[in-house]
Amino acid sequence: MVMSEPSHDNSPLLLGIKLGTACTAVVSSRGYRRLTPSVVGYPRDIIAVRMLGKTQVFGDEALAHKSALALYHPLRDGLAQDGGGKHDYNAAFELLQQVISEARQDEAGDLSAVIGVPARTSHTARAALQHLVEQFCRSALILPEPYLIAHHLNCLANGLIVDIGAGHVTVCAVKGAAPLPQDQAVLPRAGDYLDQQLLAMVNQHHQGVRISLPQARQIKEQYAFVGEPPEPVQVTLRAKGKPGLYDLTDELGTVCASIIPEITEQLAALLQSFDPEDQETVLEHIYLTGGGSRIRGLASKIGEALSEYGSVSVSCVEEPEYAGALGALQLATELPPADWREFGLASRLPETGI
Ligand SMILES: Nc1ncnc2c1ncn2[C@@H]1O[C@H](COP(=O)(O)OP(=O)(O)OP(=O)(O)O)[C@@H](O)[C@H]1O
Ligand SMILES: [Mg+2]
Repeated sequence: MVMSEPSHDNSPLLLGIKLGTACTAVVSSRGYRRLTPSVVGYPRDIIAVRMLGKTQVFGDEALAHKSALALYHPLRDGLAQDGGGKHDYNAAFELLQQVISEARQDEAGDLSAVIGVPARTSHTARAALQHLVEQFCRSALILPEPYLIAHHLNCLANGLIVDIGAGHVTVCAVKGAAPLPQDQAVLPRAGDYLDQQLLAMVNQHHQGVRISLPQARQIKEQYAFVGEPPEPVQVTLRAKGKPGLYDLTDELGTVCASIIPEITEQLAALLQSFDPEDQETVLEHIYLTGGGSRIRGLASKIGEALSEYGSVSVSCVEEPEYAGALGALQLATELPPADWREFGLASRLPETGI
């Protein structure tokens, strides 16, 4: 998490937000930046309310007090699937309200926000969110995350973006306009899947050891790699309560590599949707982003897997957790908020759900 000192000027406050399954990223035109886990907790009972001193808890604080709370992951549990339940909308609304009020840094006055949501979010859910957010933003624009990442990369045509998030991997062909459904593939095996696979493999291979999903995720985030291990993955775990040092190098390498075949298959399929004369350029512009792009060795393994298509360049986006939010802020800055509705970007964008 990085935050700047508030620096007020007279221009209207603009926010770029990425609302993700795992993480919400916010950047502002005043230089503010923050990552918050996309989770909202409500105290389970009156004792929990007294202990926490409030009726809603967000992000890291919610995760730290999870036993006292009913936790909602609004993007994981339903909002991005078709419709979502009332609780998902409430939780998404409250999460957005919270991160936006933090991003204000005590500055009063109007603000406008461009908000990126997972590519699979239905048009109905996007419209509902827009309606909610307009209650506390002068203007709001809700757009699919890959569209904003392409904007951030200034990759407006002839490129392929692979966004490896927690809930999904989105592979998106960038063709100079908002992606159509046929220009993207949304794959369900992403960061959360890797955590579950690692947990299952460790519990199966090491007798008596039981790890939790948050532990599996932490190990993955610290050591994830494909190909040659950059270092042995040795971690202290407990078997029947007693600590011991375990080597998880093979398990982690195998689990991380498991997402490569589907990704390369979709890249190859989407490559063929470009005109043949553009395909060479497209292969030179393949970008990995999302938290999962931090898996060490992934870009070169994906490049190797595509070697039969000729010269290939696969690169990782800097600060992948912020790419969607930075693209959102860039769009908010370039397009005056007063024109957002007139441009009708939100309504013109096609349905991109799976
Ligand atoms: N160093 C790392 N190595 C591997 N995976 C990582 C690393 N750091 C973060 N991740 C994973 O990246 C995922 C979060 O990435 P990101 O913030 O892009 O997802 P999201 O936008 O919230 O999800 P989605 O796009 O599916 O809605 C989590 O699964 C997290 O464990
Ligand atoms: Mg994402």
